[in-house]
Amino acid sequence: MRVGVLTGGGDCPGLNAVIRGAVRKGVDTHGFEFVGFRDGWKGPLENLTMPLGLEQVDDILARGGTILGSSRTNPFKLDGGVERIKDSLAASGVDALLAIGGEDTLGVATKLAELGVKAVGVPKTIDNDLSGTDFTFGFDTAVSIATEAIDRVRTTAESHHRVLVIEVMGRHAGWIALHSGMASGANVVLIPEVPFDIEDVAGLVESRFATGHAPLVVVSEGAVPREGGAMTLQSGEVDAFGHVRLGGIADRVAEELEARTGLESRSVVLGHLQRGGTPTAFDRWLATRFGLHASDAIAEGDFGKMMALRGTDIARVPLAEGTSELKLVTPEKYAEAAVFFG
Ligand code: F6P
Repeated sequence: MRVGVLTGGGDCPGLNAVIRGAVRKGVDTHGFEFVGFRDGWKGPLENLTMPLGLEQVDDILARGGTILGSSRTNPFKLDGGVERIKDSLAASGVDALLAIGGEDTLGVATKLAELGVKAVGVPKTIDNDLSGTDFTFGFDTAVSIATEAIDRVRTTAESHHRVLVIEVMGRHAGWIALHSGMASGANVVLIPEVPFDIEDVAGLVESRFATGHAPLVVVSEGAVPREGGAMTLQSGEVDAFGHVRLGGIADRVAEELEARTGLESRSVVLGHLQRGGTPTAFDRWLATRFGLHASDAIAEGDFGKMMALRGTDIARVPLAEGTSELKLVTPEKYAEAAVFFG
């Protein structure tokens, strides 16, 4: 069996651990040969391959990024894209495909599987917004980085009696903001699922300041004001999956808070810091197990499936289950964080 592997979408700590787990189990136990496709779906579209075997996965467990490269190429947006992929898989002698990615990459894998491509998926995103799995790998690393950053910002904010607004990633789902905000004792957490009223936020900031502490506001990049998006800064650029590039909400919230409260308010955008560097132990563990189980699924011919964490077990769910609907923060979980607001 010859297996093609690709990583697509925004990169994520733990991608290399998945590749290593899949290759080690695939070669040692199942006698597979592997080929790497470079840069997400661009690889099979343009027949961009690289050798992938025990030698290539040596010493990559703790390395951030992806040795295969990534892109947001969408074959369904290109004329003849699907045929080109099928031809390229045949030309490379690939019998089965392992796609490691988020909503977009696995969405493509889902459609290709429906069209007869033997595909298996592993869920990846720092945003943790894929359904069907308790957690995606990369999320724990992003939360750890954000929490450490918020802890650091807290001490300087306290020294200078400032309000600090920290922007974390999360386009549609506020999981990173929710978890890092709770872990760092943030005074307000703003997430895309719950449009905010800037007057309420200003009130919480003032009440926190009155206790002699520096108010910390954690905001997801996709958070929007209740009035309807007027405060979100967007570049207007759209990628191949139709996503607008976000960024700038923290600056706007800080400006609004300073104007309403009279308190000096600064903002910090964590951005790609949350996605770079070495994965946490939890993400290495989860990503490695996803890779091992993906090789087993391929060996058993169990295609059209996505690996999923259920409790402490790795389950296999239909690819469509992971991608049909985003997993959003529930009102109940947001209410838990809100206990500590103000
Ligand atoms: O989907 C993961 C993610 O990190 C989002 O949180 C963020 O909105 C997006 O990718 C940023 O993507 P890019 O690096 O392509 O701008």
